[in-house]
Amino acid sequence: MSDVLLSIENLSKGFSSSGRRIAALDNVSLTIAAGETLGLVGASGSGKSTLSRVLLRLLAADTGAIGFEGEDWLALKGAALRRKRARMQMVFQDPLAAFNPLAAVDTVLDDPLRIHDVVPRDRRASEIAMLLERVGLPADYAFRPVRSLSGGQRQRVAIARAIATRPSLLVLDEAVSALDVTVRGRILELLVDLQREMGIACLFISHDLAVVRAVSHRIAVMDGGRIVETGPAASVVAAPQSDAARALVAAVPRLVTEPS
Ligand SMILES: Nc1ncnc2c1ncn2[C@@H]1O[C@H](COP(=O)(O)OP(=O)(O)OP(=O)(O)O)[C@@H](O)[C@H]1O
Ligand SMILES: [Mg+2]
Repeated sequence: MSDVLLSIENLSKGFSSSGRRIAALDNVSLTIAAGETLGLVGASGSGKSTLSRVLLRLLAADTGAIGFEGEDWLALKGAALRRKRARMQMVFQDPLAAFNPLAAVDTVLDDPLRIHDVVPRDRRASEIAMLLERVGLPADYAFRPVRSLSGGQRQRVAIARAIATRPSLLVLDEAVSALDVTVRGRILELLVDLQREMGIACLFISHDLAVVRAVSHRIAVMDGGRIVETGPAASVVAAPQSDAARALVAAVPRLVTEPS
């Protein structure tokens, strides 16, 4: 694929737990092209969240390198790192854990606009209205406390906040896993629309292959800290090559029978 946005090279991360060493990431290499959605799937404990945390620089890798928008991402520090953080944003499983539930939606959305100086102060209110429209929420939701919203609405706010800084990459770790099936489908549709309209690349992480399949161009499969398979989404689902991918396909029977 052309235009490599993110390149992860030989990333490793170990944890010591009750005297034992766990290789949560074992020599992981991946690339994501500009505008591409890469699905990352794997059983519980395979290392998906560790990869997202290292990528977001919430956790330091033991070894390895990450190139992002042509820069050595792991070497960035201080003001340069803060500036660049605007370009890689995260959506978590639980939006209430990610922002103050007592805050009104406009405060939640104003923070990134102000911190990253996205638009001048007098244009922030109109920018917030635009962000709400973009994620399918009525403009008057700006004044509602986040905790008064439903799970799906909160996740729309989390997505609006993530796109506020005009990132080139969104990292979504189990972002729809807590939602019921109908709401989940609508949020996945929103993500696909945003991805098409804004050309944002996504690393979409889930333990659920059906969910990953619905949004991804390519799929990478993790098992025991390693990437054991990558390929076009349709091929990984139709003809899984690794034991880990076969197990994930078998766990979703409708994937096998559903024509695509
Ligand atoms: N802070 C930590 N200390 C010790 N071990 C950890 C730590 N964080 C993760 N691990 C271990 O690293 C491995 C990978 O965990 P990780 O959370 O990345 O998996 P995951 O694929 O995201 O799983 P899930 O699907 O359940 O979210 C697991 O064995 C986990 O127990
Ligand atoms: Mg996880």
